[in-house]
Amino acid sequence: MPAQPDVRNDLPLKHWTPTSWAQLAAQNLDLFLADHAICEQQAALFGLSLIGHYPGDDELVDKMSALAAEEVSHLRRVTLLLRKRGHRPSKKRSNPWVQGLRRQIESHREALLKVDRLLVGALIEARSCERFSCLMQTLGEEEADVRSLLFDLGPAEKRHWQMFFQLAQRHLPPPELEPRWQRWLEIEAELSAAGGIEPTVHG
Ligand SMILES: [Fe+2]
Ligand SMILES: [Fe+2]
Repeated sequence: MPAQPDVRNDLPLKHWTPTSWAQLAAQNLDLFLADHAICEQQAALFGLSLIGHYPGDDELVDKMSALAAEEVSHLRRVTLLLRKRGHRPSKKRSNPWVQGLRRQIESHREALLKVDRLLVGALIEARSCERFSCLMQTLGEEEADVRSLLFDLGPAEKRHWQMFFQLAQRHLPPPELEPRWQRWLEIEAELSAAGGIEPTVHG
């Protein structure tokens, strides 16, 4: 596998996953992958749901339909790998980390609701990128298939958080967007610091 600069280098996150989480996920790799598959399915659905909310936003429709297609390709790849290992995707589970983020979304004013939905999308993608990179560094050569999957997906999820953030940037000037984003990063860091105890993508 070629050397790759650590994709975590310019992630905006304020909390870094401890290596103890990566060790837990590595010891329960099939559980991690089963959860990962369902996260890819949920990521595709989230992109499609934004198209349903904002069908008049051409740029969003184009980018979210491309994103959903890419997330489905990730889902297919994880599912095939799981099957090769004798496992299946897990059932949809309640995800306290995502629920914690969703509870903080500004739901009363449409302009801010849209910005918050996009910023939450950016956070989900950034955290996925961080977790994939963290786990990849812990896995040994005997898990070459999973390392190869994570090696490819880390940069894709990094591109995705930047895409969500860029879509949000269209709706608020920097002096308003920046403090809002910083507040979101703090909320996410708190939620994330409370996790790291389950071998799941965001647990
Ligand atoms: Fe993905
Ligand atoms: Fe993604």
